[in-house]
Amino acid sequence: MCGIVAAVAARNIVPVLIEGLMKLEYRGYDSAGLALLNPTLTRLRSVGRVAELAEQAEGQVAHHGIAHTRWATHGVPSERNAHPHVSAGVAVVHNGIIENYAELKQELTADGYVFTSDTDTEVIAHLIRQTLKSTPDLFEAVRLATARLVGAYAIAVLQEWDDRIVLARHGAPLLLGLGEDGNYAASDASALLQVTRRMIYLEDGDVAELRRDGVRIVGADGTAANVPADRPVHESTLSADDVELGDYTHYMQKEIFEQPQALAATLEMIGGAQTLSPNLFGVAAPEMLAGASSVLILACGTSYHSGLVARYWIEQLAGIPCSVEIASEYRYRVSVPDPEQLVVAISQSGETADTLASVKHARALGMGRTLAICNVAESAIVRECALRFLTRAGPEIGVASTKAFTTQLAALFLLAVTLAKQAGRLTPEQEAGYLTALRHLPVAVQKVLALEPAIKVWAKRFADKQHALFLGRGHHYPIALEGALKLKEISYIHAEGYPAGELKHGPLALVDEDMPVISIAPNDALLEKLKSNLKEVAARGGELYVFADADSAVDEEPGVHVLRLPEHYGLLSPVLHVVPLQLLSYHVALVKGTDVDKPRNLAKSVTVE
Ligand code: M6R
Repeated sequence: MCGIVAAVAARNIVPVLIEGLMKLEYRGYDSAGLALLNPTLTRLRSVGRVAELAEQAEGQVAHHGIAHTRWATHGVPSERNAHPHVSAGVAVVHNGIIENYAELKQELTADGYVFTSDTDTEVIAHLIRQTLKSTPDLFEAVRLATARLVGAYAIAVLQEWDDRIVLARHGAPLLLGLGEDGNYAASDASALLQVTRRMIYLEDGDVAELRRDGVRIVGADGTAANVPADRPVHESTLSADDVELGDYTHYMQKEIFEQPQALAATLEMIGGAQTLSPNLFGVAAPEMLAGASSVLILACGTSYHSGLVARYWIEQLAGIPCSVEIASEYRYRVSVPDPEQLVVAISQSGETADTLASVKHARALGMGRTLAICNVAESAIVRECALRFLTRAGPEIGVASTKAFTTQLAALFLLAVTLAKQAGRLTPEQEAGYLTALRHLPVAVQKVLALEPAIKVWAKRFADKQHALFLGRGHHYPIALEGALKLKEISYIHAEGYPAGELKHGPLALVDEDMPVISIAPNDALLEKLKSNLKEVAARGGELYVFADADSAVDEEPGVHVLRLPEHYGLLSPVLHVVPLQLLSYHVALVKGTDVDKPRNLAKSVTVE
């Protein structure tokens, strides 16, 4: 989604803004722009890549500036809708959605303000200018103006002849970077690593001021928040390599191949232990997890799929009821709250608006046992929850989630085993066995990655297809859903995931020679049932692509293609079986020539609902 970069510094900040926007490109965008103070305003905007904006900005020198990548919500992608939006000498960039923009626009129009875009953001610029008439200090004017906004926003504002940049945050991410020669702000840390590692994460309701020689923050209650007392300064541990492509062609490819390291890093905290401590999930975890009557998992997209796998594990191992809900549904439906229920929010980014709102909703309903499983420390979802488990996948830049998913699965398996142990359902041998299996995962995933050359060959046969069906059973059914999501997301082939047992209740009608059917066929208790389902597909002329285990006894025959994973991995098998599906979609997208890392219409971090 939209990305913001702001800078006030002794150096020329134009290259900093451009480099920052390039680092935020992964979030997804369709236009870009910047405003520079010299001390009057210069605004540059372009539709398309940041590289085009960089060409326009060549030769510009400035010490104050704000910049933005826009992911269209209100108004088509166009230069007139690109940020910054300007009202006289005030320029604003914004991430989020202003829900009451229509009524504000009506009021401002009646007051004589002229709108030149279709965006909700332009009302913020006019509102600040209007407020400045009675409150001539920019900081105070932003505080008063934002108090009138309903919705989500992170904004950066500058005004001609003023040597500050003012920022405000409510429901969308924004952090400050403290530099040697100035101060900076951005939507995420990757944009600022070029100038500093010292970051302050703003909280909802904060208004902040960047000056060359310092920063000031005023919290939601109107009192000054001291740095670092009330707003600790975090030293970012991200390395430049974490966000660089290195020898890879695409971030998605890099991230698929990073999965062994990502899993090893995530599991580092269990070391060589034979037994698990609930403290892995936070100091209050022993008490909160022990008393949980059931589990409710809230998430979106790929993270939701990891939750679906976890349901199988939690119910089987811990014997505790577990439900999994799409966050955007849960937050608006009338549900039956259970204060003893453990609420688990899963999110790679920790900023997904619906997931965040669903946790807030659960808390408002009296459910205080909340756990975040997240890849970003200090993200809004982590801060919203009482307990946390941080996956250590490293930054995930490709829009299609890969290593975040497998590390979420590792974290969720740890949770299932912990809950099982607390429920008294594990022998010490079983516990030690699960921990050993987890520790072996990085090596097992590495072996699966070796299937890539064969998968490349398969991918060529998908490139001219319009549709594909993914089948799985049991805890591989969510893996079928995930395989379908990956394929549709980056290759734009329509794909559906189905539990194989559901075939003859509808989707079998779609099967013909033009519909490839991808099946996950591990050697588990449901294998024979699955084979019968596959026969039904073969009998209708469907072309089958089967990912089996070494010992699954599914044979190649005309119309049935088989690739074998090196070993059957028991309960953890979903972590292995998703990897060839990630590779398949990656290679299909390559053959089709789509934009793998930035698929059309999608954003990495979905900070609006
Ligand atoms: O950051 P989150 O895990 O909360 O994001 C949730 C979804 O937006 C995300 O998983 C999305 O479905 C991915 N692009 C799928 O690859």
